[in-house]
Amino acid sequence: MKKILSLLLLITIGCSNNQDEMIVNIYSQRHYDVDQLQYDNFEKETGIKVNVIKANADELLQRLKNEGDNSPADLFITVDVGKLWQATDMGLLQKYEDSSITDGITETLLDKNGYWIPVTYRSRIIVYSNERVKKNELSTYEDLADDKWKGRILVRSSSNSYNQALLSSLVANLGEEKTKSWANAIVSNFARDPKGNDRDQVKAIAAGQGDIAIVNSYYIGLLLSSENEEEINAGKAISVFFPNQAEGDRGSHINVSGIALAKNSPNKSNALKLIKYLTSDDAQKTYVNNTFEYSVKPNIKPNQIVKDWGSFKKDPLDLNMLGTERKSAIRIFDAAGWK
Ligand code: FE2
Repeated sequence: MKKILSLLLLITIGCSNNQDEMIVNIYSQRHYDVDQLQYDNFEKETGIKVNVIKANADELLQRLKNEGDNSPADLFITVDVGKLWQATDMGLLQKYEDSSITDGITETLLDKNGYWIPVTYRSRIIVYSNERVKKNELSTYEDLADDKWKGRILVRSSSNSYNQALLSSLVANLGEEKTKSWANAIVSNFARDPKGNDRDQVKAIAAGQGDIAIVNSYYIGLLLSSENEEEINAGKAISVFFPNQAEGDRGSHINVSGIALAKNSPNKSNALKLIKYLTSDDAQKTYVNNTFEYSVKPNIKPNQIVKDWGSFKKDPLDLNMLGTERKSAIRIFDAAGWK
Protein backbone atom coordinates (compact mmCIF):
# COMPACT_ATOMS: atom_id res chain seq x y z
CA MET A 1 0.00 0.00 0.00
CA LYS A 2 2.82 2.35 0.96
CA LYS A 3 4.44 1.64 -2.39
CA ILE A 4 1.26 2.42 -4.28
CA LEU A 5 0.86 5.69 -2.37
CA SER A 6 4.39 6.87 -3.12
CA LEU A 7 3.91 5.87 -6.75
CA LEU A 8 0.72 7.94 -6.90
CA LEU A 9 2.57 10.85 -5.32
CA LEU A 10 5.31 10.59 -7.92
CA ILE A 11 2.77 10.56 -10.74
CA THR A 12 1.01 13.60 -9.27
CA ILE A 13 4.27 15.55 -9.04
CA GLY A 14 5.16 14.42 -12.52
CA CYS A 15 1.91 15.70 -13.99
CA SER A 16 2.04 19.03 -12.25
CA ASN A 17 5.60 19.64 -13.38
CA ASN A 18 5.97 21.06 -16.87
CA GLN A 19 9.53 19.76 -17.05
CA ASP A 20 8.18 16.25 -17.42
CA GLU A 21 6.11 17.01 -20.47
CA MET A 22 7.98 15.14 -23.18
CA ILE A 23 8.24 18.04 -25.60
CA VAL A 24 10.60 20.82 -26.58
CA ASN A 25 9.57 23.84 -28.66
CA ILE A 26 12.01 25.47 -31.06
CA TYR A 27 11.81 28.77 -32.91
CA SER A 28 14.32 28.32 -35.72
CA GLN A 29 15.79 30.47 -38.47
CA ARG A 30 17.67 27.47 -39.90
CA HIS A 31 16.47 26.32 -43.31
CA TYR A 32 18.25 23.04 -44.03
CA ASP A 33 16.83 19.53 -44.51
CA VAL A 34 19.29 18.04 -42.04
CA ASP A 35 17.58 19.73 -39.09
CA GLN A 36 14.52 17.49 -39.15
CA LEU A 37 16.80 14.45 -39.27
CA GLN A 38 18.58 15.69 -36.12
CA TYR A 39 15.27 16.24 -34.32
CA ASP A 40 13.94 12.82 -35.36
CA ASN A 41 17.13 11.18 -34.06
CA PHE A 42 16.84 13.09 -30.78
CA GLU A 43 13.21 12.05 -30.41
CA LYS A 44 14.11 8.40 -31.03
CA GLU A 45 16.85 8.55 -28.41
CA THR A 46 14.98 10.43 -25.68
CA GLY A 47 11.26 10.15 -26.40
CA ILE A 48 11.09 13.96 -26.29
CA LYS A 49 9.02 15.36 -29.16
CA VAL A 50 10.52 18.33 -30.98
CA ASN A 51 8.10 21.00 -32.25
CA VAL A 52 9.59 23.51 -34.68
CA ILE A 53 8.39 26.88 -35.87
CA LYS A 54 10.52 28.11 -38.79
CA ALA A 55 10.60 31.75 -39.88
CA ASN A 56 13.12 34.49 -40.47
CA ALA A 57 14.97 35.73 -37.40
CA ASP A 58 13.23 39.11 -37.17
CA GLU A 59 9.79 37.47 -37.25
CA LEU A 60 10.83 35.04 -34.52
CA LEU A 61 12.27 37.83 -32.37
CA GLN A 62 9.04 39.78 -32.72
CA ARG A 63 7.00 36.71 -31.84
CA LEU A 64 9.10 36.00 -28.73
CA LYS A 65 8.71 39.61 -27.68
CA ASN A 66 4.93 39.67 -28.22
CA GLU A 67 4.40 36.37 -26.42
CA GLY A 68 6.43 37.52 -23.41
CA ASP A 69 5.97 35.41 -20.28
CA ASN A 70 3.49 33.16 -22.06
CA SER A 71 5.82 32.14 -24.86
CA PRO A 72 5.88 28.38 -25.44
CA ALA A 73 9.39 28.68 -26.95
CA ASP A 74 12.17 26.75 -25.26
CA LEU A 75 14.92 27.40 -27.77
CA PHE A 76 15.83 30.04 -30.33
CA ILE A 77 18.07 28.94 -33.22
CA THR A 78 19.62 31.27 -35.76
CA VAL A 79 22.06 31.11 -38.67
CA ASP A 80 23.61 34.41 -37.63
CA VAL A 81 25.15 35.24 -34.30
CA GLY A 82 24.06 38.86 -34.74
CA LYS A 83 20.45 37.78 -34.19
CA LEU A 84 21.43 35.86 -31.04
CA TRP A 85 23.13 38.97 -29.76
CA GLN A 86 20.00 40.96 -30.59
CA ALA A 87 17.78 38.46 -28.73
CA THR A 88 20.09 38.80 -25.72
CA ASP A 89 19.95 42.56 -25.99
CA MET A 90 16.12 42.47 -26.11
CA GLY A 91 16.04 40.39 -22.91
CA LEU A 92 14.50 37.38 -24.68
CA LEU A 93 17.07 34.78 -23.57
CA GLN A 94 18.43 33.26 -20.38
CA LYS A 95 21.98 32.10 -19.64
CA TYR A 96 22.60 28.38 -20.02
CA GLU A 97 24.45 28.27 -16.67
CA ASP A 98 25.51 24.59 -16.92
CA SER A 99 29.06 25.22 -18.14
CA SER A 100 29.58 21.55 -19.06
CA ILE A 101 27.27 22.21 -22.01
CA THR A 102 30.15 23.78 -23.94
CA ASP A 103 32.70 21.04 -23.16
CA GLY A 104 34.74 20.17 -26.23
CA ILE A 105 33.57 23.19 -28.24
CA THR A 106 36.24 25.46 -29.76
CA GLU A 107 36.78 28.24 -27.23
CA THR A 108 36.89 31.13 -29.73
CA LEU A 109 33.40 30.24 -30.98
CA LEU A 110 31.78 30.63 -27.55
CA ASP A 111 29.63 33.46 -26.21
CA LYS A 112 31.64 35.27 -23.53
CA ASN A 113 28.34 36.34 -21.93
CA GLY A 114 27.03 32.77 -21.62
CA TYR A 115 23.73 33.09 -23.50
CA TRP A 116 24.12 31.23 -26.80
CA ILE A 117 25.89 28.05 -27.80
CA PRO A 118 27.39 27.60 -31.28
CA VAL A 119 26.09 24.55 -33.15
CA THR A 120 27.98 24.90 -36.45
CA TYR A 121 30.13 27.55 -38.07
CA ARG A 122 30.63 28.70 -41.64
CA SER A 123 32.80 31.16 -43.50
CA ARG A 124 31.60 33.81 -45.95
CA ILE A 125 34.09 33.26 -48.72
CA ILE A 126 34.92 34.33 -52.25
CA VAL A 127 34.27 31.94 -55.12
CA TYR A 128 35.70 32.60 -58.56
CA SER A 129 35.20 31.49 -62.14
CA ASN A 130 37.66 28.77 -63.13
CA GLU A 131 37.63 30.19 -66.65
CA ARG A 132 37.98 33.93 -66.08
CA VAL A 133 39.84 34.41 -62.78
CA LYS A 134 43.21 33.19 -61.55
CA LYS A 135 43.62 32.37 -57.90
CA ASN A 136 46.58 34.73 -57.51
CA GLU A 137 44.37 37.69 -58.48
CA LEU A 138 42.51 37.25 -55.18
CA SER A 139 43.70 38.18 -51.70
CA THR A 140 41.33 39.95 -49.27
CA TYR A 141 37.78 41.22 -48.84
CA GLU A 142 39.31 44.72 -48.97
CA ASP A 143 40.80 43.98 -52.41
CA LEU A 144 37.31 43.43 -53.87
CA ALA A 145 37.02 47.23 -53.83
CA ASP A 146 39.72 47.43 -56.52
CA ASP A 147 38.78 48.71 -59.99
CA LYS A 148 39.97 45.48 -61.56
CA TRP A 149 36.70 43.91 -60.34
CA LYS A 150 34.46 46.49 -62.05
CA GLY A 151 31.31 44.82 -63.38
CA ARG A 152 32.41 41.42 -62.11
CA ILE A 153 31.17 40.95 -58.51
CA LEU A 154 28.01 39.00 -57.67
CA VAL A 155 26.45 39.15 -54.21
CA ARG A 156 22.97 39.02 -52.74
CA SER A 157 21.02 41.88 -51.21
CA SER A 158 22.03 43.84 -48.13
CA SER A 159 18.86 42.80 -46.29
CA ASN A 160 20.41 39.35 -45.94
CA SER A 161 21.87 38.69 -42.50
CA TYR A 162 24.96 36.91 -43.88
CA ASN A 163 25.96 40.12 -45.66
CA GLN A 164 25.07 42.22 -42.64
CA ALA A 165 27.32 40.01 -40.49
CA LEU A 166 30.20 40.31 -42.97
CA LEU A 167 29.87 44.09 -43.05
CA SER A 168 29.65 44.18 -39.23
CA SER A 169 32.96 42.32 -39.14
CA LEU A 170 34.50 44.93 -41.42
CA VAL A 171 33.20 47.76 -39.21
CA ALA A 172 34.70 46.00 -36.19
CA ASN A 173 38.04 45.35 -37.89
CA LEU A 174 38.54 48.39 -40.12
CA GLY A 175 36.33 51.08 -38.59
CA GLU A 176 33.28 52.83 -40.09
CA GLU A 177 35.08 55.12 -42.52
CA LYS A 178 37.03 52.41 -44.33
CA THR A 179 33.98 50.16 -44.36
CA LYS A 180 31.92 52.94 -45.98
CA SER A 181 34.46 53.34 -48.79
CA TRP A 182 34.59 49.57 -49.19
CA ALA A 183 30.80 49.22 -49.51
CA ASN A 184 30.65 52.09 -52.02
CA ALA A 185 33.38 50.51 -54.14
CA ILE A 186 31.76 47.05 -54.05
CA VAL A 187 28.47 48.53 -55.27
CA SER A 188 30.29 50.17 -58.18
CA ASN A 189 31.92 46.82 -58.97
CA PHE A 190 28.63 44.87 -59.03
CA ALA A 191 28.05 42.69 -62.08
CA ARG A 192 24.29 43.28 -61.62
CA ASP A 193 21.86 44.53 -58.99
CA PRO A 194 21.78 42.09 -56.06
CA LYS A 195 19.18 39.37 -56.47
CA GLY A 196 18.69 35.72 -55.51
CA ASN A 197 20.34 33.70 -52.77
CA ASP A 198 23.92 32.49 -52.39
CA ARG A 199 23.42 29.53 -54.74
CA ASP A 200 22.07 31.88 -57.41
CA GLN A 201 25.30 33.91 -57.33
CA VAL A 202 27.30 30.76 -58.10
CA LYS A 203 24.90 29.82 -60.90
CA ALA A 204 25.33 33.34 -62.31
CA ILE A 205 29.12 32.82 -62.47
CA ALA A 206 28.53 29.55 -64.34
CA ALA A 207 26.23 31.43 -66.74
CA GLY A 208 28.90 34.07 -67.35
CA GLN A 209 27.01 36.93 -65.65
CA GLY A 210 29.89 37.75 -63.32
CA ASP A 211 33.30 36.42 -62.33
CA ILE A 212 33.45 36.28 -58.54
CA ALA A 213 30.85 35.99 -55.79
CA ILE A 214 30.66 36.36 -52.01
CA VAL A 215 28.85 33.32 -50.56
CA ASN A 216 28.69 31.05 -47.54
CA SER A 217 31.09 28.13 -47.78
CA TYR A 218 28.59 25.28 -47.28
CA TYR A 219 26.51 26.24 -50.33
CA ILE A 220 29.35 25.02 -52.54
CA GLY A 221 29.17 21.61 -50.84
CA LEU A 222 25.40 21.60 -51.28
CA LEU A 223 25.71 22.44 -54.99
CA LEU A 224 28.38 19.80 -55.66
CA SER A 225 26.39 17.10 -53.85
CA SER A 226 23.07 18.10 -55.43
CA GLU A 227 20.96 15.77 -57.56
CA ASN A 228 20.25 18.61 -59.96
CA GLU A 229 22.66 18.82 -62.88
CA GLU A 230 22.51 22.61 -63.18
CA GLU A 231 23.58 22.88 -59.54
CA ILE A 232 26.44 20.39 -59.90
CA ASN A 233 27.69 22.23 -62.99
CA ALA A 234 27.51 25.54 -61.15
CA GLY A 235 29.59 24.06 -58.33
CA LYS A 236 32.13 22.74 -60.80
CA ALA A 237 32.46 26.07 -62.63
CA ILE A 238 34.01 27.80 -59.61
CA SER A 239 36.75 27.43 -57.02
CA VAL A 240 36.75 28.35 -53.37
CA PHE A 241 38.96 31.12 -51.97
CA PHE A 242 39.42 31.98 -48.29
CA PRO A 243 40.23 35.71 -48.02
CA ASN A 244 42.69 37.45 -45.68
CA GLN A 245 44.91 34.43 -45.12
CA ALA A 246 48.31 36.11 -45.51
CA GLU A 247 50.64 36.06 -42.54
CA GLY A 248 49.69 38.80 -40.11
CA ASP A 249 46.23 39.23 -41.64
CA ARG A 250 43.12 38.49 -39.56
CA GLY A 251 41.66 35.51 -41.46
CA SER A 252 38.32 34.87 -43.18
CA HIS A 253 35.04 36.08 -41.70
CA ILE A 254 33.07 33.38 -39.94
CA ASN A 255 29.63 33.25 -38.41
CA VAL A 256 27.93 30.62 -36.29
CA SER A 257 24.56 28.98 -36.36
CA GLY A 258 23.70 28.97 -32.68
CA ILE A 259 21.10 28.02 -30.13
CA ALA A 260 19.92 29.68 -26.92
CA LEU A 261 17.42 29.11 -24.13
CA ALA A 262 14.36 31.32 -24.37
CA LYS A 263 13.83 33.43 -21.26
CA ASN A 264 10.65 31.64 -20.20
CA SER A 265 11.46 28.17 -21.50
CA PRO A 266 8.68 25.94 -20.10
CA ASN A 267 10.59 22.71 -20.81
CA LYS A 268 14.05 23.80 -19.83
CA SER A 269 15.55 20.42 -18.95
CA ASN A 270 14.43 19.00 -22.29
CA ALA A 271 15.83 22.06 -24.03
CA LEU A 272 19.23 21.58 -22.38
CA LYS A 273 19.17 17.91 -23.43
CA LEU A 274 18.56 18.94 -27.03
CA ILE A 275 21.42 21.44 -26.94
CA LYS A 276 23.72 18.71 -25.61
CA TYR A 277 22.47 16.37 -28.32
CA LEU A 278 23.06 18.84 -31.18
CA THR A 279 26.62 19.44 -30.01
CA SER A 280 27.31 15.72 -29.47
CA ASP A 281 29.88 14.08 -31.75
CA ASP A 282 27.16 12.08 -33.54
CA ALA A 283 25.00 15.10 -34.33
CA GLN A 284 28.04 17.16 -35.32
CA LYS A 285 28.99 14.46 -37.84
CA THR A 286 25.44 14.56 -39.18
CA TYR A 287 25.75 18.33 -39.72
CA VAL A 288 29.13 18.27 -41.48
CA ASN A 289 28.10 15.46 -43.80
CA ASN A 290 24.71 16.87 -44.75
CA THR A 291 25.04 20.65 -44.81
CA PHE A 292 28.81 20.94 -45.31
CA GLU A 293 29.06 23.36 -42.40
CA TYR A 294 32.05 23.17 -40.04
CA SER A 295 31.76 21.45 -36.68
CA VAL A 296 32.17 23.51 -33.53
CA LYS A 297 34.23 20.64 -32.13
CA PRO A 298 37.81 20.41 -33.34
CA ASN A 299 37.77 16.59 -33.22
CA ILE A 300 35.01 16.40 -35.87
CA LYS A 301 36.56 16.77 -39.30
CA PRO A 302 34.75 18.37 -42.25
CA ASN A 303 33.16 16.37 -45.03
CA GLN A 304 35.64 15.33 -47.74
CA ILE A 305 34.30 17.96 -50.20
CA VAL A 306 35.06 20.68 -47.65
CA LYS A 307 38.36 19.12 -46.59
CA ASP A 308 39.54 19.38 -50.21
CA TRP A 309 39.39 23.20 -49.96
CA GLY A 310 42.08 23.03 -47.27
CA SER A 311 42.04 24.51 -43.79
CA PHE A 312 41.89 28.26 -43.23
CA LYS A 313 42.57 30.92 -40.64
CA LYS A 314 39.40 32.27 -39.00
CA ASP A 315 38.93 35.92 -38.06
CA PRO A 316 39.26 35.78 -34.24
CA LEU A 317 36.85 38.71 -33.69
CA ASP A 318 34.50 38.35 -30.69
CA LEU A 319 31.43 37.06 -32.52
CA ASN A 320 29.08 39.25 -30.47
CA MET A 321 30.49 42.19 -32.44
CA LEU A 322 28.59 40.85 -35.45
CA GLY A 323 25.58 42.00 -33.42
CA THR A 324 26.91 45.14 -31.76
CA GLU A 325 28.08 46.61 -35.10
CA ARG A 326 24.91 45.62 -36.98
CA LYS A 327 23.20 49.01 -36.91
CA SER A 328 26.24 50.76 -38.40
CA ALA A 329 26.51 48.01 -41.01
CA ILE A 330 22.91 48.50 -42.14
CA ARG A 331 23.37 52.28 -42.25
CA ILE A 332 26.48 51.86 -44.42
CA PHE A 333 24.69 49.46 -46.79
CA ASP A 334 21.82 51.91 -47.22
CA ALA A 335 24.10 54.88 -47.81
CA ALA A 336 26.07 52.89 -50.39
CA GLY A 337 22.89 52.01 -52.32
CA TRP A 338 23.54 48.28 -51.89
CA LYS A 339 20.02 47.05 -52.67
FE1 FE2 B 1 22.10 29.42 -45.34
